[in-house]
Amino acid sequence: MGRISEVREILLARIAESDAPRGVLRANELRELYAEITALPAGERGAFGREINTLKQELESVITTREAELESVDLLPIDVTAPMDSNAAIPELLTSDHGSIHPLMREIEYISDIFNRMGYVTEGSREIDDQFHMFESLNFPKGHPARDDYDTFMTEETDADGERLIAPAHTSTMQNRVLRKYRENLTRGEAIAAIVPDRVFRNEDLDARHEHTFYQVEGVYVAKGVNVGNLIATLQEFLQEYYGKKLDVRVNPFYFPFTEPSFEFALSCPFCEGKDATCKVCSGEGWIELLGCGLIHPNVLRAADIDPEEYTGFAFGCGIDRLVMMKYGIEDVRHFESGKLDFLEQF
Ligand code: DAH
Repeated sequence: MGRISEVREILLARIAESDAPRGVLRANELRELYAEITALPAGERGAFGREINTLKQELESVITTREAELESVDLLPIDVTAPMDSNAAIPELLTSDHGSIHPLMREIEYISDIFNRMGYVTEGSREIDDQFHMFESLNFPKGHPARDDYDTFMTEETDADGERLIAPAHTSTMQNRVLRKYRENLTRGEAIAAIVPDRVFRNEDLDARHEHTFYQVEGVYVAKGVNVGNLIATLQEFLQEYYGKKLDVRVNPFYFPFTEPSFEFALSCPFCEGKDATCKVCSGEGWIELLGCGLIHPNVLRAADIDPEEYTGFAFGCGIDRLVMMKYGIEDVRHFESGKLDFLEQF
């Protein structure tokens, strides 16, 4: 058998077995065949080269067929046309050995869906950001003591100002970008309404309530004449829809550099509704501190070239892990990142 037919047999067998058959076109055997051309007497080179090209064309066509075959394999027998109720228990099928959607990802979809129905767009955050977005644009100038509350991980890489890039400790790091991206809405007489549900990081001592990696949903709403009443009504509406029941809320004054006034928002315990002094979810207090919020500080609007004399807005940041823990009675936040199947298979 000639060398070319030998290589042909080897490579056809490899394509038939491979899950990524296109890689076979970079096989050493092919490269060696091309290299052999130069070693041949000048008169034989043309014919040999043409034979290799014919082989290559044949391989390409066999690869295309194999790829189509691979694509048509059904990975999960799911009826994609069935209506999805995000509150419903996940069907048996998804809890089988095939794997299932992570509970946090599933809840993020649901949270997004609620806000989308209220007219908010959904944006993503970043896993590495600069200190301008994480702090300066949010009215934490350099040396501001409140920066210490957002202790996170740093890279050795620096930005153009020589400041280290960091893993964002809150989704507020996206506020300036979101305000800029949708600023034109205001000139059209529309509001800026966006949420950012995504991953954040903190340098924490880990325990049942603290993780180094967790999720938040940030909300930003700007228009003319926005007030604290709008903020409270929006959050209450969201939480009632999320938990599927009427809940009382409590709003206490707080401090964040990027809102003025700022509040901490508590929810009447969805488990015991304040009626069980031994409730483990709220420690018998009847209230659960759930999120920070407030009216966007004029300096934050200015940093995005929005005139605070003309427009006002509210913002909020809510821990998603906590929200989900309360919904399902999950007692330890570390389960989420653990990858433990006996936990994940329950969802
Ligand atoms: N970023 C704050 C945190 O992680 C939460 C927060 C508070 C976000 C107030 C906001 C806000 O948008 O207005 O602690």
